[in-house]
Amino acid sequence: MKLTSTLLLVVLSLASFASLASSFNTLSQGSSLSTEKPEAVLTSPNGVFSAGFYPVGENAYCFAVWFTQQTRSHHLTVIWTANRDQPVNGRLSKLSLLETGDLILTDAGQFTVWATSTLSRSSAQLNLYNTGNLVLRTLEGENLWESFDFPTDTLLPQQFLTRNTKLVSSRSQSNYSSGFYKLLFDYDNILRLVYDSPNFSSIYWPDPGLLSWDTGRSRHNNSRTAVLDSLGNFSSSDRFTFMSTDYGQMLHRRLTLDYDGNIRLYSWDEQGETWVVSWQAIQKPCKIHGMCGENSICSYFPDSGRKCSCLPGYRMRNPTDWSYGCEAEFVLSCKKTASYFQNLSHTQFYGNDYGMFLNHTFHECKNLCLKLCEDCKAFQYVFKKEDGFSSCYPKALLRNGYHSPDFTGTIYLKMPKSAKKKPFSYANSTVEPFSLDCSIEGPLQPNRTYLRSRGNGTVKLMLWFVCGLGGLEIVCIFSVCCLLVRTRKNSGENKQGYLFTPTGLRKFTYAELKKATKGFTEEIGRGAGGIVYRGVLADNRVAAVKRLNVANQGEDIFLAEVSILGRLNHMHLIEMWGYCAQGKHRLLVSEYMEHGSLAQNLASNSLDWKKRFEIALGTAKGLAYLHEECLEWVLHCDVKPENILLDSDYQPKVADFGLSKLQNRGDSSNSTFSRMRGTRGYMAPEWVFNLPITSKVDVYSYGIVVLVMVTGKSTQIHAVDDAADRERKSLVTWVREKKNGEATKTCWIEDVIDPIMEGRCDMGKMEMLVSVALQCVEEDKNARPTMSQVVDVLHHHKDIRH
Ligand SMILES: *[C@@H]1O[C@H](CO)[C@@H](O)[C@H](O)[C@H]1NC(C)=O
Ligand SMILES: *[C@@H]1O[C@H](CO)[C@@H](O)[C@H](O)[C@H]1NC(C)=O
Ligand SMILES: *[C@@H]1O[C@H](CO)[C@@H](O)[C@H](O)[C@H]1NC(C)=O
Ligand SMILES: *[C@@H]1O[C@H](CO)[C@@H](O)[C@H](O)[C@H]1NC(C)=O
Ligand SMILES: *[C@@H]1O[C@H](CO)[C@@H](O)[C@H](O)[C@H]1NC(C)=O
Ligand SMILES: *[C@@H]1O[C@H](CO)[C@@H](O)[C@H](O)[C@H]1NC(C)=O
Ligand SMILES: *[C@@H]1O[C@H](CO)[C@@H](O)[C@H](O)[C@H]1NC(C)=O
Ligand SMILES: *[C@@H]1O[C@H](CO)[C@@H](O)[C@H](O)[C@H]1NC(C)=O
Repeated sequence: MKLTSTLLLVVLSLASFASLASSFNTLSQGSSLSTEKPEAVLTSPNGVFSAGFYPVGENAYCFAVWFTQQTRSHHLTVIWTANRDQPVNGRLSKLSLLETGDLILTDAGQFTVWATSTLSRSSAQLNLYNTGNLVLRTLEGENLWESFDFPTDTLLPQQFLTRNTKLVSSRSQSNYSSGFYKLLFDYDNILRLVYDSPNFSSIYWPDPGLLSWDTGRSRHNNSRTAVLDSLGNFSSSDRFTFMSTDYGQMLHRRLTLDYDGNIRLYSWDEQGETWVVSWQAIQKPCKIHGMCGENSICSYFPDSGRKCSCLPGYRMRNPTDWSYGCEAEFVLSCKKTASYFQNLSHTQFYGNDYGMFLNHTFHECKNLCLKLCEDCKAFQYVFKKEDGFSSCYPKALLRNGYHSPDFTGTIYLKMPKSAKKKPFSYANSTVEPFSLDCSIEGPLQPNRTYLRSRGNGTVKLMLWFVCGLGGLEIVCIFSVCCLLVRTRKNSGENKQGYLFTPTGLRKFTYAELKKATKGFTEEIGRGAGGIVYRGVLADNRVAAVKRLNVANQGEDIFLAEVSILGRLNHMHLIEMWGYCAQGKHRLLVSEYMEHGSLAQNLASNSLDWKKRFEIALGTAKGLAYLHEECLEWVLHCDVKPENILLDSDYQPKVADFGLSKLQNRGDSSNSTFSRMRGTRGYMAPEWVFNLPITSKVDVYSYGIVVLVMVTGKSTQIHAVDDAADRERKSLVTWVREKKNGEATKTCWIEDVIDPIMEGRCDMGKMEMLVSVALQCVEEDKNARPTMSQVVDVLHHHKDIRH
C-alpha cells in the first residue's frame, strides 16, 4: 500500500510534468534549466520535440529530447539523452549554458557529469530544431555542437549515422542506460549489428554466415554514411537500403535499436496516437546474439516467444539472467573412453570453432574432438551427399546456440559417460520477450521519493508510469509482421519492364486485370475472401487473380497490409506478384498452380501415399514459417484442402494466408479476430467458445486436413461400418475410436486409411502421421503441438523405414 501511494505521488508529479510544461524556444548564455523545475522545457518551433529533464529512476533525471506528443497510453518517447549512464539528482542539478559557450550538466550543484566542451568568442544559444536536433550555435549561425552528432539509440530522419557515430541499445526495458547491442559501421565499411558485452562480442546482422556480396552489401565505399528520410527510405553507403511499409507518406519516423537487439523503424500514427513498426531488421528473434548466454540454446515459440534452455548436463549460471548462460554439471576427462557424444538435431552454435577440417569422416571428426580434450566441447559435422564433401567443426566454446526446424545441421555434444542421461527439451524457460504492449506487465519499480503535487490520479496514469519507468519508449501496437529484409542490390533493375512499387510488388490497374482474366470469366476458386479467377498477364505469365470482398477499406491501409504479404517468401507459400487498389476495387495477383488444389486432387484420387506425406510435410513447413518467422503475426485462419495448392512436382503451397488480416480491418478495435472465420469442419473449438485465437487454430485445421487426406473421407462421415449407429459423426471422433477402440488390433491404421492406398503404403509412416494429426486436433489448444514441432516430427520420420 505504501508503495502504491508513493507510486501515485510519482505518477502525479509526472502528470503535472507533462501538462504544466512551460516552454522556451531558446536557452541563451548565462541561463540554465533545473531538475527542480522539470516542467520548464525547450520546444522546437513546430512543437514536435521537447528537451528538458526527464525522470528515469529514483530521484534520477536525464537531460533528454523527446516527442512532445504522448502515446495513447500517456507515454513519452525519448529520442536522445545527454547522460544516459549517469543520471543526475533531482535536487540542485542543472543544465547551464556558460558565458564561455560551454554547455554543462551539473549533478547536485557540484559535479559536472556531462559537457559539450565548446568555446565561443561571440554569444551562443541553444535551440531545438524542428528535426529534433538540439543545436548549440553562435548568433552568427556557426554550429558549435549538435545532438545529431551524438545519437543514443535512435536515429531521426535527416540525421546521419557516420563513421564516428553508432546507436547503442538500452540496457533493458526498464533501464535506459547503455546496453550491449550496437549499430555501427564496421572497419570494412559495412553497417552491422553487434552484440558487444564485456565478455564477448559477436556480429549478428547482416547474417554472419553470408559473405558480404550475398547480403547485397558493398565494402568498397569508404564514406560510411547512412540516413533515413521522412518518406521512409533508408539508405547506407554500403548499398544497404530499405523502404518502410508505409513509404511515401510524410510521417514522424524514428529508427530505434531496441533493447532486445532488433532495429525497428517506427512511424507515428496520428489517429491511434501510437508508434507503428514499419520495418525491422531481424525476423527470427533467435538470430540476435547474447540473449541466451554460453552453453544455452535459443528457440522461438509462437505462443511464448524466445526461450533459452541449458544444454543437457548444464545448469543456469545466474538463475535470474539468461545472458550469463549455463555451466557444466560435470567434469570432462581427457580419457577417450570416458566420453560419449549426444546429438542435438536442428541445432547450431555459431562461431567459436577450433578450426574447420575438410575431408574428415564422422569418426575422424569425433576422434579429433576427443583428442582436443578441453578445446572441444562439441562438434558440428556437415556431410554433403551430392559431392561427398564433408566438413568438421570442433567447437571450443558453445555460444549463439540456436534451434530451428529450418536448420539441418546436428551438433554432437561431448558428455562424460558417467553423466546421467536426462530428457532434454528446448522449451524449458522463457526469456523476457520484447514487449510492445504496455498493458501486459511493467518492469520492477524502484522506490522513489518525490514529494511534489498531490491529488487523485487515475489507474491509467498508474499504468503508464509502471510501463514508462526508465524513460524509454514503449510502443503499444503490434503492426508489422514479417518484413523480410530485402537488400535491393540494384534498385534500377527492372527486368520485366514493370514499374515496381516500393514494396517489390507490382501495381496493376483494374483494366489490366480485367483484360488478363477476360472480364473475370474463368473462375477457379471461391472463398469467404472473394472469388479467384485465372488470368494471363501481359508478359504471358499465368496468374491467379483474387477479387476481395473488402468494401470501404482505405487504400493506404490495404497497401500496408499487402506489402507485408508481398514480403512473405517461402517455397511452401504461394508467391504474391501484385495487387490492384483502384476506386473500390481490391485485387491480389499471385502465382497460379497448374495442378490445382489438394481438394481437387483428393477428389480425383491422383495422390499416392508418398505424395500425401510430402504434402503434409510441406504444408506444415509453410504454416510454421507463417507462425514463427513472422513472429506469429500471420495466422492463416482458413487452412483447408481448397487452400493448399500443388505445383508440378505435387509440392504443396499454402494459399490465401494473411487474408484474415486484410478482411478484418473494418473493426479496428483491439480484437482483430472478433468475428468467426474459417470453414466448417476445419475450425478449432476456440472459435466456437470465444477463446483467445492463437496460431493453434491453424494447427487444429492442419490436423483435420491431414486426417481428410489420409482417410480420403470428408470431415463428417457416415459410420457405415457400424450398422447400429448410422448417424453422422466427426472424422476426428471416428479416427480416435478406431485407434483407441481397437488398440489390440495392430493394424487399426488399415481401417482408417484411404482404401485406394491400401496395401501400397508404409503403414508405419501413416500411423505416425495420423497420430500427429490427432494431437493437432486436441480440444485443448495447449495440448496441440506447434507447427514447427510437427515439422520436426515429420522430418524425423521422413527417411525412416518401418
Ligand atoms: C541499469 O543498468 C546499469 C548497468 O548494468 C546499472 O549500473 C544500473 O544500476 C541500472 N539501473 C537501474 C535503475 O537498474
Ligand atoms: C532513397 O535514398 C537514396 C539516397 O538518398 C536515393 O539514392 C534513392 O533514390 C532513394 N530512393 C527513392 C525511391 O527515393
Ligand atoms: C558512397 O556512398 C555515398 C553515400 O551513399 C555516395 O554519395 C557516394 O557516391 C558513394 N561513392 C561511390 C564511389 O560509390
Ligand atoms: C563475464 O566474465 C566474468 C569473469 O569470467 C564473469 O564473472 C561474469 O559473470 C561474466 N558475465 C557474463 C554476463 O557472462
Ligand atoms: C542421434 O542419436 C540417436 C540415438 O541417441 C541415433 O539413433 C541417431 O541416429 C542419431 N542421429 C544422428 C544424425 O546421428
Ligand atoms: C578430399 O578427398 C578427396 C579424395 O579422397 C580428394 O580428391 C580431395 O582433393 C580432398 N579434398 C581436400 C580439400 O583435401
Ligand atoms: C524443465 O525444468 C524443470 C525445472 O524448472 C525441470 O524439473 C525439468 O526436468 C525440466 N525439463 C526438461 C525436459 O529439461
Ligand atoms: C530503496 O530505498 C532504500 C532506502 O532508501 C534503499 O536502501 C534501497 O536500496 C532502495 N532500493 C532500490 C531498488 O533502489
